[in-house]
Amino acid sequence: MSGAILSVEGLSSGYGAATVVREVSLQVAPGEVLVLLGKNGMGKSTLLRTIMGYLRPHAGRICVGATDVTGEPVHRRAAHGVSYAPQERALFQDLSVRDNLRLGLSKDRDFEQALGRVRRAFPFLAERLAQPAGTLSGGEQKMLLVARALMTAPRLVLVDEVTEGLQPSVVDRLATVLRRAAAEERRAILLVEQHVHFALSVADRYAVLKLGTIVATGSTRDPDAQAVIESQLRV
Ligand SMILES: Nc1ncnc2c1ncn2[C@@H]1O[C@H](COP(=O)(O)OP(=O)(O)OP(=O)(O)O)[C@@H](O)[C@H]1O
Ligand SMILES: [Mg+2]
Repeated sequence: MSGAILSVEGLSSGYGAATVVREVSLQVAPGEVLVLLGKNGMGKSTLLRTIMGYLRPHAGRICVGATDVTGEPVHRRAAHGVSYAPQERALFQDLSVRDNLRLGLSKDRDFEQALGRVRRAFPFLAERLAQPAGTLSGGEQKMLLVARALMTAPRLVLVDEVTEGLQPSVVDRLATVLRRAAAEERRAILLVEQHVHFALSVADRYAVLKLGTIVATGSTRDPDAQAVIESQLRV
């Protein structure tokens, strides 16, 4: 895809000698949301960790815009505009909401501007800037994680299973924020999900990962998208 923000080609990776992700290729364009679905243990988080640079691939290539970042460390990828909301709790529990949001931003001016975006996306966070992140509820912490990933005005956002265990109103808020980040701010979003309705409501395209390989892809607007995804998640 010309003009893609993320291009992954023939990517294989894993842990030590064990291969978990096998020859995955995918692209995400500006303004587009691609959702990656798959059952537990299929390699979704491993793929995101490899794209962010926490794992070195066994084979394949990762490009951000026109830049090949395959050999680059995490902070270089961040500098190219990639941000990541991991599945595991990744907030500094003892630091305030403000300090968690500030991480990764060097200038105060950038912070004030980014805070305006946070206020619009998650108004309650802007009112709790002084509160330690660890005292927020589980759902609030998920929102803070997404808000933090959006602070740097990234070109590409990687989001790993953000709806896990959240109530419907929080899921709706996250859907709105992610859609807006793509549609209005032209960010590219690669979303990992197991929540099929949320995936279909947010994403433009889907891919299903099974044992580390993409086994189905399509547009979320295809009339059979839900049936294809659910049948792949069943077997
Ligand atoms: N740090 C690690 N060291 C060794 N093996 C790992 C490590 N992390 C994950 N794995 C293995 O890699 C495989 C894929 O795990 P991964 O976390 O990528 O799955 P997932 O699709 O994200 O699952 P879930 O939906 O449960 O989050 C699993 O078999 C897992 O046991
Ligand atoms: Mg995972």
